[in-house]
Amino acid sequence: MQHAVIFWLFSVLCDAKMLIQTEGGSITAKCSFAISGGGRFLCRHPCEDGDVLLKTEATEAQRGRYSIRYKEGTFPVSSTVLYVNISQLAKSDSGRYRCGLKRRFMIDAHQEFNIVVTDALNSPPDRPKQLDQQQTDETGASKGPDLQT
Ligand SMILES: *[C@@H]1O[C@H](CO)[C@@H](O)[C@H](O)[C@H]1NC(C)=O
Repeated sequence: MQHAVIFWLFSVLCDAKMLIQTEGGSITAKCSFAISGGGRFLCRHPCEDGDVLLKTEATEAQRGRYSIRYKEGTFPVSSTVLYVNISQLAKSDSGRYRCGLKRRFMIDAHQEFNIVVTDALNSPPDRPKQLDQQQTDETGASKGPDLQT
């Protein structure tokens, strides 16, 4: 998987989180924050009004293909983590996203990550069934490196 190595190098050099997954797969991004609290949100770059994908005050929430799980930490011992899951990925999902905490009396804390959705060459294990129709089965090939995070 030469592409994976190139993307990995790129993401290390640019210090930008990059998640790579094939079409139909799912990814989970992990966003960590030193201070807990606030509403959780996920939006797509540039994060203007129409770009909000999910917004919640709850510990867990789902909206369509997007879900968020909030795990509160204890400052300064452990960080607060927001797990963002996007499933049934399509090529058009490639791009930059922002996950964060919206706080009333403080500046919002957020992190950004990039998603790269590649062609489905092999069938990943969590690929939805309906996408398997009409396609030649190539699962005989080895699975390759695990690109999920
Ligand atoms: C994302 O959520 C879907 C649907 O709930 C689940 O099947 C999948 O395993 C999750 N993906 C990851 C990478 O955690």
